[in-house]
Amino acid sequence: MQKILVTGAAGQIGSELTMVLRGKYGNENVIGTGHEKRPDKTLLESGPFHFIDCTKIDTIAEVVMKHKVDTIYHLAALLSAVAEADPQLAWKVNMIGLYNMLEVAREYKCSVFTPSSIGAFGPTTPSDNTPQDTIQRPNTMYGITKVAGELLCDYYFKRFGVDTRGVRFPGLISYKTPPSGGTTDYAVEIYYEAIKRKKYTCYLKEGTYLDMMYMPDALKAAVDLMEADPARLKHRNAFNVSAMSFAPEHIAAEIKKIIPEFTMDFKIDPLRQAIADSWPNNMDDSAAREEWGWQPEYDLESMTKDMIEKLSQKNNLIV
Ligand code: SER
Repeated sequence: MQKILVTGAAGQIGSELTMVLRGKYGNENVIGTGHEKRPDKTLLESGPFHFIDCTKIDTIAEVVMKHKVDTIYHLAALLSAVAEADPQLAWKVNMIGLYNMLEVAREYKCSVFTPSSIGAFGPTTPSDNTPQDTIQRPNTMYGITKVAGELLCDYYFKRFGVDTRGVRFPGLISYKTPPSGGTTDYAVEIYYEAIKRKKYTCYLKEGTYLDMMYMPDALKAAVDLMEADPARLKHRNAFNVSAMSFAPEHIAAEIKKIIPEFTMDFKIDPLRQAIADSWPNNMDDSAAREEWGWQPEYDLESMTKDMIEKLSQKNNLIV
């Protein structure tokens, strides 16, 4: 039986992935870890949880040794907008944190899943149908740590035989734990505001296309890639994965189909607009489809229906 460690277990992806992994591999076999943010009661009470600091290697090694961990899902990271507000901290958490994780993985023979991002691309990357292997010259600290992370994971595989795997996640949309400080967060906020206030002020301009994905597909991507036959993996790290690409007006129109009174206006945030403009409109994820059978389930319509249903239940509202 696998012994799995999840970092960032209280975060947007981690809070859901930890529970999916516990359901699949057994509660006791999935060790959640976090830094400051307390996980919710279900996560805390359903299995082991430790507070660690990814920037301090000893705190990671201790938990890996104690639980005889063999697989790590390393999710602890700062998102793009907060990383831009504090680039020094972003380097520490995103880069030193990953380096420490890979070092522990090398020493204790663990496999490692690390999410990269659409943020690993930059303004000179072809923005439509962005190829798997292409120009990567991001101009944000987040992007720099993501590209360096992709290369570092490849290096640890080639040089030390650490079984590293990863995907480039697009904007992730979920109704459980909100993201904090990303550029794509509007696509989550819009649902909360549509339900609470029937209106939303968007910080990205009309026509800003970005790749997006509903959380159940993102969780499936992580687990499927870690379970994929290694003989078929030519890329290993940083697979482009996408489920849909849309601009703010498209998600608003989809919400309007269910909540007809919904309206959206705009107040552009120059920082996040510039970041979004430097990212692809839509990625080509055929390598993931060919090498490990990636196939998303949700599109904009089915995701919107599910988000509104689930968030309304959470808020005790009938839409
Ligand atoms: N969702 C992330 C962000 O907006 C991108 O991977 O920062």
